[in-house]
Amino acid sequence: MLQLDLKQALNKKEGEIVNGIVYVTSAYPSTTVTGVNNVSGYLTQKNSQVYYQVWGDNIEPFKRALTANRILTIAGKINRWFNPPSINITFATPDTTGLTISDFITTLNLEKLEQDFYQFIECEISPKTRHIINEVITGKVKERFFTEIAAKNVHDAVIGGLANHTNKMLQLAKVLIDNDNRLKEYTDLIYCGIIFHDIGKIQAYNNGQNLEYSYVDHRSFGCELLQESKQKICNLQNTTFYYQLLAIIQGHHNQYGDKAKTVWAYLIHLIDTLEAYTTMILDRYEANLYTEHLNGEKSIKYDNDTLYY
Ligand SMILES: [Fe+2]
Ligand SMILES: [Fe+2]
Repeated sequence: MLQLDLKQALNKKEGEIVNGIVYVTSAYPSTTVTGVNNVSGYLTQKNSQVYYQVWGDNIEPFKRALTANRILTIAGKINRWFNPPSINITFATPDTTGLTISDFITTLNLEKLEQDFYQFIECEISPKTRHIINEVITGKVKERFFTEIAAKNVHDAVIGGLANHTNKMLQLAKVLIDNDNRLKEYTDLIYCGIIFHDIGKIQAYNNGQNLEYSYVDHRSFGCELLQESKQKICNLQNTTFYYQLLAIIQGHHNQYGDKAKTVWAYLIHLIDTLEAYTTMILDRYEANLYTEHLNGEKSIKYDNDTLYY
């Protein structure tokens, strides 16, 4: 059995049968108003994503297999009722061919990501804060920081996504700092906060696959990781700098996690949101997850909003 080519599947006719190995990136069970059970979510293959649904009695035999972040062998039918088309899955079972998630997701240019990162910190960050960064991002942590995904299926769900997301946020912060002198004295804290804000993701995932304690939020893992270097951070900078970094890690999700309690945590939350949402919307467009209207206009759904192109 081969991987199901999602791009090709999208071109098939209504009701045509598809089968193959897929990577399920999300699975949301729900019940309709008439009491019919269903599970829906997305299948991902490199830059393509396809929406799937499983209905009623079909769910029961493979309910356990159909969860997020699993590689499955599936069979299904193309549903062109909505645009873009989706797949109605009629059969699913765990894959046994040994494929891993990295076979389904894109790998960025990891060498360039690392080069860009070190060039940025060399030019923009003071030597003592650079020392802190190198103290934390070293050995196994460094290896994982430059390869891990940024998120499961929201944004930068690619090998190298975490470093890519971080680099883009550093550039956005630079624009703000370069254009408002009031931010200048906080430059090191803002850049260092950005670099560490999602670092806990290396403890939550491994190449996109959940690790043993992935029920712990990456913000807690990030604080734990920084604590290992607490003394060095306090010596190289000071105690306030260390706790400001913890406040950034803890508060960077703001309303979606713990509320930001410092100006810097809030600023990094804004930069994080701008970067992640921009990437997510563009990823959806690239993956053909847009709706084409009768008048030719294209739109993408996000939460309850319809965003036109
Ligand atoms: Fe985060
Ligand atoms: Fe982030």
